[in-house]
Amino acid sequence: MSGPAIRTQDLSLTLGRTEVLEGITLTVAPGSIHAIVGPNGGGKSSLIRCLLGQMPFRGTVELDWPGAPGRLAYVPQALQFDAGLPMTVLDFLNALDSRRPAFLRPRAATRAHLLRQLEIVGMAGKADRRMGALSGGERQRVLMAQALDPAPDLLILDEPMAALDEAGAALFETILTDLRAKGVTILWIEHDLDAVRRIADHVTALNRRVRFDGAPSHGLTPDRVLDLFSHRGIAA
Ligand SMILES: Nc1ncnc2c1ncn2[C@@H]1O[C@H](COP(=O)(O)OP(=O)(O)OP(=O)(O)O)[C@@H](O)[C@H]1O
Ligand SMILES: [Mg+2]
Repeated sequence: MSGPAIRTQDLSLTLGRTEVLEGITLTVAPGSIHAIVGPNGGGKSSLIRCLLGQMPFRGTVELDWPGAPGRLAYVPQALQFDAGLPMTVLDFLNALDSRRPAFLRPRAATRAHLLRQLEIVGMAGKADRRMGALSGGERQRVLMAQALDPAPDLLILDEPMAALDEAGAALFETILTDLRAKGVTILWIEHDLDAVRRIADHVTALNRRVRFDGAPSHGLTPDRVLDLFSHRGIAA
């Protein structure tokens, strides 16, 4: 298994009268953890939606797979479930994963498989809870479980740790570094800059334009971080 490289060339996005992204030229190396950081409204989620083909951008996006195109998995920033929706965690995973009608209960073998997936994210004990009754962090864990099964070659994560407790965040970092060891390409939007410093190979700071692109140890100095998040902007 080996993930693709991602290349964007002069990517721009205008929504209404707002220039959300401007001239984004970016390379994500295959098999790396590439973090995207930047202030609220800086265009991080929009960039990902462009890569996923959900936004009418200008410029180009290329996914360069080492062989045949592999599997792309995506964990969105937020996904709401109605509190009354009678869909359990297992129903949710089964519906995403199954070729059988979603209203049928999973077979015993499928159930055992899904429980093993939930075990990885520490959620096996809550398999029969309704999705709408989960806390924010529990929901994030379930979304991560669906992204990991079947195993992805490219994993795109939009603030997956935002609602996680300390143990959840530590578990999450281990999952990401294990995936990298298997060659998976990971594009990861994250506000926790310490986590980015710990595990990312490369970081792009985004605020409409690319403000920094390089190694976390160089890019995330206190001065640069202050500039980026105070919206004063820094030299690219
Ligand atoms: N459909 C839309 N129409 C107009 N403007 C939009 C639309 N979607 C997003 N925007 C604007 O684009 C800008 C970038 O939004 P985006 O969600 O990409 O930011 P972000 O970097 O992911 O922020 P956050 O850290 O808060 O998640 C924001 O100013 C937002 O208001
Ligand atoms: Mg966002």
